[in-house]
Amino acid sequence: MDPQHIRNFSIIAHIDHGKSTLADRLLDVTGTVEHRKFSSQSQLLDTMDLEQEKGVTIKASAVQMHWRAADGQEYEFNLIDTPGHVDFGYEVSRALAACEGAVLVVDATQGIEAQTLANLYLALENDLEVIPVLNKIDLATAQVEKVSQEVGELLGVPPEEIVAVSAKEGTNVEQILQAIVDHVPPPTTSADVDAPLQALIFDSHYDSYRGVIAYVRVREGRVNRNTQLLMMATGAKTEPVEVGVFTPEMTAVPELFAGGVGYIATGLKSVREARVGDTVTEVRRPAPAPLPGYQPAKPMVFASLYPSEADDYAGLRDALDKLQLNDASLSFIPESSQALKFGFRCGFLGLFHMVIIQERLEREYEQDLVVTAPSVAYQVKFKNGQEEEILRPADLPDPTLLDEIREPWMKVQVITPVEYIGAVMEIMRNKRANFLLTETLDTRRALLTFEVPLAEMVIDLHDRIKSATRGYASMDYSFDSYRADDLVKVDVLVNGEPVDALSIIVHRDKAYDRGSLLIRKMKEVIPRQLFEVPIQAATGGKILARVNIQALRKDVLAKCYGGDVTRKRKLLEKQKAGKKRMKMLGNIIIPQEAFLAMLRLDDD
Ligand code: GTP
Repeated sequence: MDPQHIRNFSIIAHIDHGKSTLADRLLDVTGTVEHRKFSSQSQLLDTMDLEQEKGVTIKASAVQMHWRAADGQEYEFNLIDTPGHVDFGYEVSRALAACEGAVLVVDATQGIEAQTLANLYLALENDLEVIPVLNKIDLATAQVEKVSQEVGELLGVPPEEIVAVSAKEGTNVEQILQAIVDHVPPPTTSADVDAPLQALIFDSHYDSYRGVIAYVRVREGRVNRNTQLLMMATGAKTEPVEVGVFTPEMTAVPELFAGGVGYIATGLKSVREARVGDTVTEVRRPAPAPLPGYQPAKPMVFASLYPSEADDYAGLRDALDKLQLNDASLSFIPESSQALKFGFRCGFLGLFHMVIIQERLEREYEQDLVVTAPSVAYQVKFKNGQEEEILRPADLPDPTLLDEIREPWMKVQVITPVEYIGAVMEIMRNKRANFLLTETLDTRRALLTFEVPLAEMVIDLHDRIKSATRGYASMDYSFDSYRADDLVKVDVLVNGEPVDALSIIVHRDKAYDRGSLLIRKMKEVIPRQLFEVPIQAATGGKILARVNIQALRKDVLAKCYGGDVTRKRKLLEKQKAGKKRMKMLGNIIIPQEAFLAMLRLDDD
């Protein structure tokens, strides 16, 4: 197709504003997918099981649609889907770099939210033409006029130009396609189709038959099965197994041309060799420079994964290896813990990414895991000037050798109804946050900007903001900088033995409170044993606090092992489920919840 008649665009939205529903409706009105397919599997772009279950989009994907405009001209649209969660910010920005336009969906019952703004800024940074769309106008609570005003002011467009639709019912959805034709520019390419190939990888997945499938936007030149390919950032070379487009199924085509979007089945064995953001070119005549902006995804949150049974270590390694073929942002290194034996220290893009990986390991690879509390990467500077990165709290060197300990800080934006500003401020104060500024969005809502240590954020910040504002606030965050502070390591001793996997690093002012709360929480979840078990929190060898788990009394034992049928059945069912999620420390049972007690410190 002539590039003049191609439009490449993304849909961006705050979570739940209707991005996937709108994408489905566009496939529907363009006849890309027959209507009956929707009933059996709604939300076609969310293909992973977990995505459907959690109702969020995890991996970007792409689909080609054809549509005849009012003037009779046929257009090719490439819809590039972006991940909906902030943890995947880098993938969002690569997906946007593959487009010329973005449809910004705003729920007419909710108005602008934190990720509406964050995504909008990303789109503007990528020089995209933004098409604002109001969704859910079928709902009685939709405030079309008011939200149009809000969005119009934000984007500097007259409110009456904003397309108002119901993605659910299909109302006005074709108007969006016309607006894209009218306002989104066609892809610019040099007139020379024989220029050296330059294609941006904006997503990838691993296929056991065809190797890594790279999702590409071709900027210059052309690619077919005979093109010898070179990945400019990783240096990997390969000859494609197939090239094609998404309709939305993968459909082979003879060639992909400048301006277009599709896939290259590379035959490569790991997504690490064809990473999101890399530029594909030709071995024979490489492009003079890669497309801008490649950066490897950087893990922000770390946790250790241990098999419940020590002899499952090899199985866990295997599962992690396989997952990594598909997820280049997952990193792991073997580690050993005195208490937990052999496991892996894993790096994740954020807490949400961590939850997804853990669930995939358990479901798809049937691993029975114990996961330690998430922490962050600290930087230490020794008195002799040497620097080191510390990936787990237990590894913090002797503080007398250190000049400073630095931790990552995030910039956090919260949009909240004005009546909850006080509550948000209070939560943030407890998280060691610096308040930067308040901006009013409209008469009802304010945008607050803070700086917060990431280590404080991983302890339930999002949940607390949500519950304090009855779900009305929304939040977005990005990495700011590493900063030095007065940080100390708090160790936990179970039955007199330090358990390295339970150590945490906290601000000195909070060491006592956090330490004593942590062991109280642990006491609630560690079952009583046949003997009394002391649990202590200590810093630098000094005991801060202690609790005792009382020994089981005889009559309790009797109850447990007596003839209570329902209890026995429950136990049996639990065993059948097969997930033990606990670890033996010597002869003491430590359940998974005890390792995550830190995440519930702010409960009281
Ligand atoms: P993520 O994938 O989580 O980012 O969400 P999303 O933005 O893709 O939202 P999704 O399409 O999953 O829609 C969220 C909810 O809103 C679903 O329950 C949809 O059925 C509903 N919804 C979407 N569009 C409309 C609409 O036009 N009208 C009504 N009434 N409901 C809608």
